[in-house]
Amino acid sequence: MRILTHPEIARIESWESINLMAVAAANVILESVRENPEAMITYATGNTMVPVYEATETIVNETDIPFQRTRAAHLDEYWPANPDLDEFSFVRYLRDRVFKPLKIPLGQRFEIDGTAADPSEEALRYDEVLSRNPVALAILGIGPGGHIGFNERGTPFNSRTHFTRLSEETIRRDHDERRLSTPKTAITQGTANVLEADRILMVAFGSEKGGYLFEALYGLISSECPASALRTAGKKVTIIIDETAAGVLGAK
Ligand code: F6R
Repeated sequence: MRILTHPEIARIESWESINLMAVAAANVILESVRENPEAMITYATGNTMVPVYEATETIVNETDIPFQRTRAAHLDEYWPANPDLDEFSFVRYLRDRVFKPLKIPLGQRFEIDGTAADPSEEALRYDEVLSRNPVALAILGIGPGGHIGFNERGTPFNSRTHFTRLSEETIRRDHDERRLSTPKTAITQGTANVLEADRILMVAFGSEKGGYLFEALYGLISSECPASALRTAGKKVTIIIDETAAGVLGAK
């Protein structure tokens, strides 16, 4: 593992493989549960997190770190999305990859309802859930245009949970990479919600993510690159990446 130094971000770790990166990220999650067994954690979805949650489940099964008292929320959900019917639903992903494997009880899971008739009202409801349950750890990936959650380029840093239209870059990514016909709208936590967490963990691997990260870490701190907002709260941010992503950071 190599530590990368950055003027604003407290810790950036570059790991030799995606597996090692995933175990390191899992350990950050486990650490926050060890510190506070009732921790409220917001989980990102997406490809990046698949190995991270698998590693978390493996360690949990091998040790006695209980998630039963933790609370779990998430960053975003497509709208409309029905977790029982739609393969692309993030709630479906979380139930399968996080909530069930980590045995987080139903009453402690806070899901965004992608079937809500009025998505703006659902966003407000979810924002209140987050206000009542301060977040100990926010887990993030990074996507096209440096988006975090579905805060796309141009979303103000002070945005709270809201209904949004996905950017053309994200729609293209979903089409090309996920090969799913996903909705073009979503409900997402705002950047302000993310920044309120006590601790923020961002995970990224591969050269494309290295490019997004480069802009976020070394470009202007601006709503044009939502992930650059992390630098305004850098003391509580840990970024864990693989060496391919780190190579892009170093090479640029
Ligand atoms: C998902 C989310 C998104 C993803 C990002 C990267 O809940 O909030 O911001 O983290 O789009 O997605 P992957 O990991 O699939 O490349």
